[in-house]
Amino acid sequence: MDFSKWVLLISALYMLLLTTLSNCSLTPEELAEIPVNFLKFAKRPEISDWMVGIRRKIHENPELGFEEFETSKLIRAELDKMGIPYKYPIAITGLVGFIGTGKPPFVAIRADMDALAMQESVEWEHKSKVEGKMHGCGHDAHVAMLLGAAKLLQEHRHDIQGTVILVFQPAEEGGGGAKIMADAGILENVGAIFGLHVSSRFPIGTVASRSGSILAGSGVFEAVISGKGGHAALPQHTIDPILAASNVIVSLQHIVSREADPLDSQVSLSLSLSLSLSLSACVLVCVSGEVVTVAKFQGGNAFNVIPNSATIGGTFRAFSKEGLMELKQRIEEVITRQAAVQRCNATVNFNDPFFPVTVNSEELHQYFGNVARDMLGENNIIEMKPLMGSEDFSFFAEVVPGYFYYVGMQNETQGQLQPGHSSYFTVNEDALPYGAALHASLATRYLLEYQPKSTSSNGISHDEL
Ligand SMILES: *[C@@H]1O[C@H](CO)[C@@H](O)[C@H](O)[C@H]1NC(C)=O
Ligand SMILES: *[C@@H]1O[C@H](CO)[C@@H](O)[C@H](O)[C@H]1NC(C)=O
Ligand SMILES: [Zn+2]
Ligand SMILES: [Zn+2]
Repeated sequence: MDFSKWVLLISALYMLLLTTLSNCSLTPEELAEIPVNFLKFAKRPEISDWMVGIRRKIHENPELGFEEFETSKLIRAELDKMGIPYKYPIAITGLVGFIGTGKPPFVAIRADMDALAMQESVEWEHKSKVEGKMHGCGHDAHVAMLLGAAKLLQEHRHDIQGTVILVFQPAEEGGGGAKIMADAGILENVGAIFGLHVSSRFPIGTVASRSGSILAGSGVFEAVISGKGGHAALPQHTIDPILAASNVIVSLQHIVSREADPLDSQVSLSLSLSLSLSLSACVLVCVSGEVVTVAKFQGGNAFNVIPNSATIGGTFRAFSKEGLMELKQRIEEVITRQAAVQRCNATVNFNDPFFPVTVNSEELHQYFGNVARDMLGENNIIEMKPLMGSEDFSFFAEVVPGYFYYVGMQNETQGQLQPGHSSYFTVNEDALPYGAALHASLATRYLLEYQPKSTSSNGISHDEL
């Protein structure tokens, strides 16, 4: 069936739906055509080239968290051109757009907008024009994909059985922009939220995700260890903070190696190696790996002077809130007490709030599998292991059922891609139509398949409308 016939069919069915007020009355075959057609549509040059243009424009002008003013302006200009209403500003530069009836059910799809404080090393026509800033995580592609989805959805707005909320959030990279947007109430009455990330680990045309915990919760700490500086040749007149900090760092490594259950990481590893659907519930419970890393160590400027103090900082990760709180307590104890062994004092600061564990809803995992399978085929759906990385999407997924997945970019014939946060990171722009079509399909079918059974909920309206 070609695209225009599909549109006619959906419109006819929409009229049918209106008159019957039934739950989703499309057959599985008809539902299956939606993702296929959205992908075909998104791959058309007028859509894909437009997305590539947006992505490159944002790539040239990367902006850090809560400073995405030009990026946000560009998004609003495109939404204006498409006639999509939005609410702005939320969390300084963030915004939410609305497509559909303006009535329930509501479903949200999300993109992050911020870049990283790093220098791009890739030499190409659209290299970052800002010294020391780079879209090294692919959030430029995420914005282009969500705008692509907006275009697909807006062209089919009359087929949308409810309201799609487009979430453009600031400051994913450590700023917790998602928390501020969630606190502003953008997910009120929303049934589910979907978020994606481009990935150089998975082949183009594939998606990867899992049920339950997919990304770790994380916290950041910084400690100042103070002693008494002096001549490097007369250590007996000093209290050496460098030596104390060195011992602190070594002791911190013993928290995970001596206090975490050594079976935990093995259990999650062996289970993920032999993953099958029947085991997925167990993996959800068993995931419990932990990490403590000191990534920053500063102290002293001269070869022959013991400094007054040294500063260390790092990150810690766990797959439960309890695990994170335990790590936090032990990090503080180990730093202050180990510093005291060497007669130093220490103060420890933690960022607030911690990024929660990113947990995918089991029901949405099934739902995502159905939609992605219809679009990409059974063999292109990858069940992945959890990652120790973190995502502030987790703040959204704490408020409403959430689902986070990876969109593959690797194309063997084009050489190996560098991973995110590398100064050599590149985006395979062929992946843009996949992200746009997945966003649009997940939203459209969610609204069709999760229609409220009774009409009593018609009184609910979204706060923002
Ligand atoms: C540590 O703190 C105590 C109590 O404030 C103070 O007396 C001592 O001089 C401090 N030691 C160092 C090395 O800063
Ligand atoms: C992978 O790259 C080749 C060569 O550029 C291209 O012909 C092919 O379409 C690409 N595959 C996908 C799925 O984009
Ligand atoms: Zn990142
Ligand atoms: Zn990212």
